[in-house]
Amino acid sequence: MTGKLSSLPVLHQTLLRQIDSQAAALGLPAYLVGGGVRDILLGQPALDLDIVVEGNAIQLANVLSSKYGGALTIHTKFRTATWQPPEGPPLDLITARRETYRAPATLPDITPSTLANDLARRDFSINTLALRLADSTLVDLHNAQVDLQNGVIRVLHPQSFIDDPTRLYRAVRYEIRYGFTIAPDTLALIPPALPFVERLTAERLRHELDLAFHETCPARVLARMFELGLLNAVLPDVLPWDSDLAKQLDSALAVHPAPEWGLGLTFNGQPLNLVLGYAAWFSGLAQSQITLLHERLTFPLTVLKNAQAVSALLAELPALAGSKPSAWVRHLTDVPLTALYAAHLISGEDAIKRYITDWQHIHPKTDGDALKALGLPPGPRYAEILWQLRAAWLDGEITTPEQEQTLLNSLLNSPMTE
Ligand code: CTP
Repeated sequence: MTGKLSSLPVLHQTLLRQIDSQAAALGLPAYLVGGGVRDILLGQPALDLDIVVEGNAIQLANVLSSKYGGALTIHTKFRTATWQPPEGPPLDLITARRETYRAPATLPDITPSTLANDLARRDFSINTLALRLADSTLVDLHNAQVDLQNGVIRVLHPQSFIDDPTRLYRAVRYEIRYGFTIAPDTLALIPPALPFVERLTAERLRHELDLAFHETCPARVLARMFELGLLNAVLPDVLPWDSDLAKQLDSALAVHPAPEWGLGLTFNGQPLNLVLGYAAWFSGLAQSQITLLHERLTFPLTVLKNAQAVSALLAELPALAGSKPSAWVRHLTDVPLTALYAAHLISGEDAIKRYITDWQHIHPKTDGDALKALGLPPGPRYAEILWQLRAAWLDGEITTPEQEQTLLNSLLNSPMTE
């Protein structure tokens, strides 16, 4: 593999060589396009490999999977296929197409076409580069190399943001990720396109916000979105932003939670940075505002529940301050772990940390079986007695098994409390 492609990991190069040879056998010109080429030229790791084929990409994908194995996902309507080879990253194989938008913010209609038309349908000049796999020739039809060198984000035509308002959010991500600047002409197209954001589906719009949390500096991405009116375009005057929030978000996302929090890279199937990111961002909002945002953006349940829990807990902290450990435990037991972590970071409340490190692990020696063996009839008294014993341990009222036994005897002999 020659030239530019030689900077790719060996496995990627092998896959591209396989695609090149099978495309050549079918007589189909194939190109690496978009973000992959952009990142190679920027000297960044190019992880996203999108291949455009002048001809039938699905036919090529079928040949690749029967020759080299792996799995295929075919989208007949879009004339694309994703090939997951037995080893290495998935590759998107795209039939070169022309796109037309019937209405702003809808998905475009596509017709098979040339590479040139495929590049012309794209968002920004820096994403229009193509590398011909056969000989590594760079195709640059939109002055992309100059824009890459000057660090400029530039749309290809004035209607671009209106056709696809997700591009407003994409522009900001690139600006912050690469330290680039949106070109003045492109910047001027943003305000007139803002009213079209409301036409985006919940899923497409939320996806754009989600992606901010996968960037290296989410707070800077959101700050710039706020500055350009992109947050206000989601819902007027609901999505907050200020420098305190930026700090909260940075502290929630900058480092992975310490081991005692027991948090992995995902929480209930959602990426941890997404759950923590939204929870920190919405921490100062009222429940009704979070509900409004959910109505517009339809968050996954885990994201929603955590954001609600953090905002509720932070609102309750003043009343809980200085309470006995048992009161904290009663309150924190059903709060999701990620919400506890976010609330601790934001408030600095030490009791939340003590709950994680100590209190949640404190339980009486007596359990339900022991109460049964003592002849206690089934009913709500089980939970009440076990809780009273636990609370006494938590609050330091008992410190030995003998004291627990004495307390248990007196509880068994006393009438049930309401
Ligand atoms: N694209 C576009 N308009 C969009 C989304 C994508 O023109 N609204 C084009 C761009 O040419 C982009 C390519 O489709 O390069 C692939 O999209 P995506 O994978 O989202 O972007 P990447 O360029 O790979 O950038 P990132 O590194 O952010 O994933």
